[in-house]
Amino acid sequence: AAPALIDAHGRTIEYLRISVTDRCDLRCRYCMSEHMRFLPRDALLRLDELALVADRFVARGVRKIRLTGGEPLVRGDTMELVRRIARHLGAGLDEITLTTNGTRLAEHAEALREAGMRRINVSLDSRDPAVFRHITRHGDLSKVLAGIAAAQAAGLAVKLNMVALKGLNEDEIPAMLDWAAARGMDLTLIETMPLGEVDEDRVDRFLPLTGVLAALRARFELIPDTHRTGGPARYWRVAGTGMRLGLITPLSANFCDGCNRVRLASDGKLYMCLGHDEGVDIKAALRGDGLDEAIDAALRRKPARHDFRIAAGAAPATRRHMSVTGG
Ligand code: GTP
Ligand code: 5AD
Ligand code: SF4
Repeated sequence: AAPALIDAHGRTIEYLRISVTDRCDLRCRYCMSEHMRFLPRDALLRLDELALVADRFVARGVRKIRLTGGEPLVRGDTMELVRRIARHLGAGLDEITLTTNGTRLAEHAEALREAGMRRINVSLDSRDPAVFRHITRHGDLSKVLAGIAAAQAAGLAVKLNMVALKGLNEDEIPAMLDWAAARGMDLTLIETMPLGEVDEDRVDRFLPLTGVLAALRARFELIPDTHRTGGPARYWRVAGTGMRLGLITPLSANFCDGCNRVRLASDGKLYMCLGHDEGVDIKAALRGDGLDEAIDAALRRKPARHDFRIAAGAAPATRRHMSVTGG
């Protein structure tokens, strides 16, 4: 069998995130600048290349693959990629899943479920149409809500992702919890991360989740839960509901010790950490025949941890936006 993926810090890599495109139909303020420049289309890996890299990672022990972006559903052949990757389900691969902004979910939910997907994560930072429009700059909340409903109707479990933003959606967090619970969804809160230039200073929006958790405890009985999804979230059960609350705290509580993931980014590079610049050129490796060698070389250089910092005027950890790396 091909050797498992174990890095220099003893961490086993079992989770591959693939950003299929950096493009998106929204322009979330914490993610992108208003006049975002996207990669030229020929910079992206083609469908057959993406499928081949995924095959190789499954052979090397990856058990979970998530498609991200940008918005993965704006790319025309994403569904075909899901179907190709899903061939590995039950044969090494435990899960093929997706993180989406939900704008096109209503059209694709059934097909995702038919392809073998069982759960998805949908970004929803606000349920107030005006606030949603403000945060996403272009978003139509009703489309996303319709997408979420369609996904649930198709039998997909939905977990909501909400980036906690000071002065924008912080007052909505308890109501979002109630809303998710009433609809049988889990909710994960995320701290904003300093990736790429955006048009505002992140320090003005950063909300540490330690304080949010303390405030939620006054309203909800939260019971620490050992449940894991293979991602960075730590979970609490919300007493009296069937739901789980997840917290992703890259700034306030580092989780890099348990890192089990790498990222195939939309620029054709394999990144070992969301917050570091170094990547290995997978497109070049595919054209030669050194895919395994490229993966091994990257793995040896996986850093111990990110060094995110949010302070007034601080530069981002890397110039690369979240949408290129895929989160
Ligand atoms: P689950 O499989 O449901 O656990 O999903 P996930 O949290 O792995 O994936 P999702 O795409 O929903 O990501 C949620 C947030 O977690 C995004 O903002 C990601 O950028 C962030 N995230 C995922 N992995 C890492 C990581 O290794 N480091 C950091 N700093 N953030 C991460
Ligand atoms: N910091 C934190 N989360 C971000 N996301 C996008 N950009 C950032 C950022 N800079 C979130 C999206 C989505 C998830 C994949 O990443 O809202 O839910
Ligand atoms: Fe698009 Fe997601 Fe970035 Fe929003 S956070 S602009 S939905 S890639």
